[in-house]
Amino acid sequence: MLKKRAKIAVLVSGGGTNLQALIDAQKSGILRSGRIMLVVSNKPGVYALERADEANIRTVVVNKKECVSNVEFEQRLIDLIDGDGIDIIVLAGFMCILSERFTKHYENRIINVHPSLIPSFCGEGYYGLRVHEAALKYGVKVSGATVHFVNEIPDGGRIIMQRAVEVKVDDTPETLQKRIMEEAEWKILPLSCERVCYEYMKNKK
Ligand code: GAR
Repeated sequence: MLKKRAKIAVLVSGGGTNLQALIDAQKSGILRSGRIMLVVSNKPGVYALERADEANIRTVVVNKKECVSNVEFEQRLIDLIDGDGIDIIVLAGFMCILSERFTKHYENRIINVHPSLIPSFCGEGYYGLRVHEAALKYGVKVSGATVHFVNEIPDGGRIIMQRAVEVKVDDTPETLQKRIMEEAEWKILPLSCERVCYEYMKNKK
């Protein structure tokens, strides 16, 4: 057991079911080496913000549409995250691609959940339901989810955990998405987050 917990920021853009899985894991003790201190959305009004409010977690909207450039958007994120002394950043359905300047600033401190078995169906343009549409179009019999570190290559950082999920003959993108969330994403994201927070705090001076 660590004396101090890592401070976690979760970045979201939508419904926030992966954020909910992290909140639940914190309550059940699966996530014990880190604590979610901040939830940031790039859009106002998303349901993930309500989930954070419900769990008494500080929320901030950094509205990307109101920023004149990506540089400004990322600088506002950095000011916020560093201002709160955050250790680990979790991208949980965060639909913005981060530049090398941002990812280098937090090397080995950002993790992302992606709804396929990387290196299949990943990279720029593959997000949300599009990933499952592509998997069904290709005809794969197994898909799944991956949690990985985030570097300058979209979905290209070191893999932390993966879990395979069966594709059924009558699957639609929606049914496949749901099964992958339930059987893979909501399990491996909290487990990976715990592992990364534990290792980070063990080595933090
Ligand atoms: C999740 O399936 C997540 O893996 C995916 O978007 C969904 C967000 O759902 N992320 C990506 O596709 C990123 N490339 P949530 O808001 O309910 O967690």
